[in-house]
Amino acid sequence: MRLVNTLEKPLELPCFLAHLAGPLQMTASLSPTSAQPSFDRRSPRIFVFLDPLVFTVVPEGPGRGLLEFGERRGDARSLKGEIEFPVASELTPEAPFEHIIFNEQYSTCAFCHADETRAPDVPFARAFESVALRPPDRAVVSVDELRSEVQSCDAASDPYRCAMLHALFDRDGVIQRDFPESYGTL
Ligand code: HEC
Repeated sequence: MRLVNTLEKPLELPCFLAHLAGPLQMTASLSPTSAQPSFDRRSPRIFVFLDPLVFTVVPEGPGRGLLEFGERRGDARSLKGEIEFPVASELTPEAPFEHIIFNEQYSTCAFCHADETRAPDVPFARAFESVALRPPDRAVVSVDELRSEVQSCDAASDPYRCAMLHALFDRDGVIQRDFPESYGTL
């Protein structure tokens, strides 16, 4: 949130990703049933690990303007939040939690992330934690496979997708990292 608020507005998601410092640990997957659906190995849903946070983005499709995140809670749960880009002005600390509220009781994430409860350690917002999910092994797209998409993407015909891939890969190191085995699958 501090980084989002520091950067110039309006802020596009690829610009935010480019400002994440240093080498990044990540994995990707085909994700037909998620808040960021991906049906094409060339544009998978991408998961970036910044412990204890996991960020997720997708280079094309209806979820491409969203930054989803889960802050790890124990072995198999996470605190959920979401920011929609482009961001036009400074965000309040409660904004990522308010954006996912479905009704008095649940967030929109609860449709798939089971066992949702209020997070008592976030007193300034209606915040929710729930079961953390990982992709099944057969859906995983490796960082090496994704790297070849960065090299072959054509910025003239595919500007947003290329900008997002370059923002993630144009840096000193990108390292494959798998989800903890303790996370469930849908
Ligand atoms: C339609 C089902 C669905 C909905 C709704 C959904 N997710 Fe997920 N989510 C998944 C699946 C499936 C995975 C496993 C990775 C994958 O295959 O995309 C996942 C994984 C994640 C992860 C990675 C690990 C973790 O902490 O769980 C995060 C972060 C995440 N989702 C955030 C969210 C947020 C935030 C919302 C609500 C705005 C949300 N998801 C709503 C299906 C969903």
